[in-house]
Amino acid sequence: MKKTTDAGNGQGTRKVEAKSSAAEGLKELFIDGLKDIVYAERALLKALPKMMNNASEPKLKAAIEDHIAVTEGQVQRLEQVFEILGESNRGKKCEAIEGLIKEGESIMEETEVGPVRDAGIIAASQKIEHYEIASYGTLAAFANTLGETEIVALLEATLAEEKEADALLTESAYNSINFEAAEEDEN
Ligand SMILES: [Fe+2]
Ligand SMILES: [Fe+2]
Repeated sequence: MKKTTDAGNGQGTRKVEAKSSAAEGLKELFIDGLKDIVYAERALLKALPKMMNNASEPKLKAAIEDHIAVTEGQVQRLEQVFEILGESNRGKKCEAIEGLIKEGESIMEETEVGPVRDAGIIAASQKIEHYEIASYGTLAAFANTLGETEIVALLEATLAEEKEADALLTESAYNSINFEAAEEDEN
């Protein structure tokens, strides 16, 4: 009988072969995740000033400026985590954040300065915040499972800041920017 679908035995459904450097235990997976997020935070420290300079609405500008300062503290917290673990704080390239930052850059290129670009900057920033929230949520859970209580507290402090940043962005979107952006459509 002729097969109509490849599901279940196609290339894409095969188990992925692990690299020789693959993490063996949760601890290693945890450290890999920390290296990913420290890379992401450092990349954001370079990318956020451009977003701030491209924002027009003063509250949005201020929110991004504030988050740059908060991000510096988050990098320091992660460095503390590496110190507790006795690991180097060198990051490992995070493809996800590179992609999210690139998306933010293209949103800026594709919009005129003003409320529409602001709406685009909020959209891109919220995707970034959600990536961070997912990452820190997972890492805090891993730290908890590993019994690293001091690290749990550090990661949860950052997680709370990321959630706050996300809420602030939602607020600025609802408060004016999206409405003004919609008005631009009518003009
Ligand atoms: Fe962050
Ligand atoms: Fe953030």
